[in-house]
Amino acid sequence: MPKTIIVSNRLPVKIQDNDGQLLLKPSEGGLATGLGSIYKTDGNVWIGWPGQAIDEDNKTTVNEQLKELSLIPVYLTQDDISQFYEGFSNEVLWPVFHYYASTYTTYKPSHWDYYQSVNQKFKEAILAVAEPNDTIWIHDYQLLLLPELIRAERPDVSIGFFLHIPFPSHEMFRLIPWRSELLQGMLGADLVGFHTFDDVRHFLSAVSRLLPMPISSNIIACKDRYVVAESFPMGIDNKKYEDAVSDPDVQEQMQQIKDVFKESKLILSIDRLDYSKGILQRLQAFELMLQQHPEYIGKVTLYMVVVPSRDKVPQYAELRNQIDKRVGNINSMYRTMDWTPVNYFYRSVPFETLAALYASAEVCLVTPMRDGMNLVSKEYIASRVNNDGVLILSEMAGASRELIDALIVNPNNIIQVKDAIIQALNMPLDEQNARMQQMRQVVSKFNVAHWVDLFMERLNEVKLMQRSMQTRHVEGSTKQSIINRYKSTSKRLIFLDYDGTLVDFQPNVNQAVPDSDLYSILNELMLDPANHLVLISGRKHENLNEWFGDKNIYLIAEHGAWFKQQGMEWHKVNGLSTTWKPELFDIMQKYVDRTPGSFIEEKSYSLVWHYRKAQKGLGELRANELMNTLKYLATDKGLQLLPGDKVVEVKNMEINKGKAALGLVDQGDYDFIMALGDDLTDEDTFKALPDNSVTIKVGSGSSAAKFYLRNPSEVRQLLRALSINSTIGQE
Ligand code: UDP
Ligand code: G6P
Repeated sequence: MPKTIIVSNRLPVKIQDNDGQLLLKPSEGGLATGLGSIYKTDGNVWIGWPGQAIDEDNKTTVNEQLKELSLIPVYLTQDDISQFYEGFSNEVLWPVFHYYASTYTTYKPSHWDYYQSVNQKFKEAILAVAEPNDTIWIHDYQLLLLPELIRAERPDVSIGFFLHIPFPSHEMFRLIPWRSELLQGMLGADLVGFHTFDDVRHFLSAVSRLLPMPISSNIIACKDRYVVAESFPMGIDNKKYEDAVSDPDVQEQMQQIKDVFKESKLILSIDRLDYSKGILQRLQAFELMLQQHPEYIGKVTLYMVVVPSRDKVPQYAELRNQIDKRVGNINSMYRTMDWTPVNYFYRSVPFETLAALYASAEVCLVTPMRDGMNLVSKEYIASRVNNDGVLILSEMAGASRELIDALIVNPNNIIQVKDAIIQALNMPLDEQNARMQQMRQVVSKFNVAHWVDLFMERLNEVKLMQRSMQTRHVEGSTKQSIINRYKSTSKRLIFLDYDGTLVDFQPNVNQAVPDSDLYSILNELMLDPANHLVLISGRKHENLNEWFGDKNIYLIAEHGAWFKQQGMEWHKVNGLSTTWKPELFDIMQKYVDRTPGSFIEEKSYSLVWHYRKAQKGLGELRANELMNTLKYLATDKGLQLLPGDKVVEVKNMEINKGKAALGLVDQGDYDFIMALGDDLTDEDTFKALPDNSVTIKVGSGSSAAKFYLRNPSEVRQLLRALSINSTIGQE
């Protein structure tokens, strides 16, 4: 039975050396705790690092211990740990992705070398156990190159990738010298998942700026596959936290907490040691409250657990010192005989203690400066089985998109956080219940099992989409059957769009002129008397005339407004109105004035706003604005709005390529009709042609065409193959 192979840098357990005895302990962090409760089904395995360098002599024992838990270790050397894990992963990727990159961040080539070689190590470990129908699910920023490494070895395997931390804006991401390689690595996956829609947007924007790959909505057209990027907010095992509340051990610890803190309300704070968690700012807000509201002295305790993490990385060690100092200051300043303001623990706590703390604390204070999701906030909600308690949550945590009934704060606004603490401490029970119930529903519905199901379902859908695209792609047997049909026919009508179909788009429209290779392909096709070639384009008739006026090709210009039979003069469709042009020209002109690099092209019956040379992103934004502005005007005036490749065209509704094409179809008794085109205007042709026509869309995106080709170079290959085969057929 096919299995799922989960891969992450860290396994859900880590090895700890206890006086020579190797013990397994749970790993910290949202990835390990979140996925930890669901991977052990259906023969699945988890591949990852067991948390420290292990001596050769101990590896066999460790392997066996881990095997019992369906875990497969990838061993890292001391150098791997310092260069790949501490260096590239946690001194480059972590800070950049959390918006902490500074001009002092160093991008050491040796860190990058180790990052690559450790990703290779993971690849070897996967290939050793992966069987053909397995699904490989790779997690997080330490393994960004891995999807592509696996893809190179197993082109057809299903690969999912999930990023557990934020994906930063392009302005941050571009700082990394190896940014394109990192994106390429991720795109080896079929489905790339993020916690929030903002992360998806940032990722797509980075891909569109750094890699030459067409993107349509959230689908990226990579060389030979479509890759989908989508958001899947991660959930928790909510039942585990709900049930824990009635566990006798947890109950006992709850009672102890009650006895110790009887006079005082508890504010709970739980994080890994990390500058992204806003621990210092949180202490500052708590101190400000004590300073400005002495009535809370002795009445409120901040219970702060900081779980040790990455303490070999200098910024983390430094942060620990700062926290120690700050806690010391607050305590020495405000402590009373029987009350300590901050109960601070620098250690991890067992699950039962954690559950007891969640269930006991009146307030949970979660104020990261940036956090991919933040599972602590969800675990607190799940533990509040009586629907009381208040969550204060940073708007910078992914969880804030779902837990909208929390008290949402900006963690940089210390006064706001202080006010939120006071609001939470005084919130009436009704309001606590109302907010908590809503949040509990969200946490329960969107739990971790739901998250896994959604991701896996989508991955399957993407795989199916890729397979159906493969059969629609004109190559292999599909291409051969088109060639066979072509060969067996004697009266053929072939519609060819020009820009984006026969030639690539160029930064300047005037550069997209036909080259000698294109002329020779068309000449070959024209040589066959069975062929009637039609060039059907949105270009001005003057352009087509200059390039193809003397050829044995029927020319249709301006989407059908002009036409010219071989050897004859140009004709124009009569009776079309142009009175709308001045008004629309003026509107477009405003967009030209506001958008450097854009310009208007005027045709007989249409106006086109070109923005290929405008600043990336700005052009698209203005195009949308322009479309919205013109929408109603266009309908009133009988015009059609056409968003194209870096253009917005407004044309007379009565002319369209479909009508023009159909006119020609009706004139002859053709036994083979084929049309190739790349944009919205060509869809009219595809839809108008008889059912048995061979319609081929060029490029990605949905289409009414039966088949597709990726780009003009593939179009040319097909056309060349047709004429060669046709000659062979005649011999
Ligand atoms: N956690 C832990 N050990 C502890 C305290 C907490 O492993 O001593 C867990 C906590 O239950 C949560 C995870 O660590 O599941 C933290 O995940 P979160 O998403 O909040 O932050 P991350 O550490 O992943 O940045
Ligand atoms: C976050 C990351 C995880 C990481 C965890 C603990 O949750 O997203 O990938 O495992 O922190 O960090 P560590 O460096 O100890 O693995």
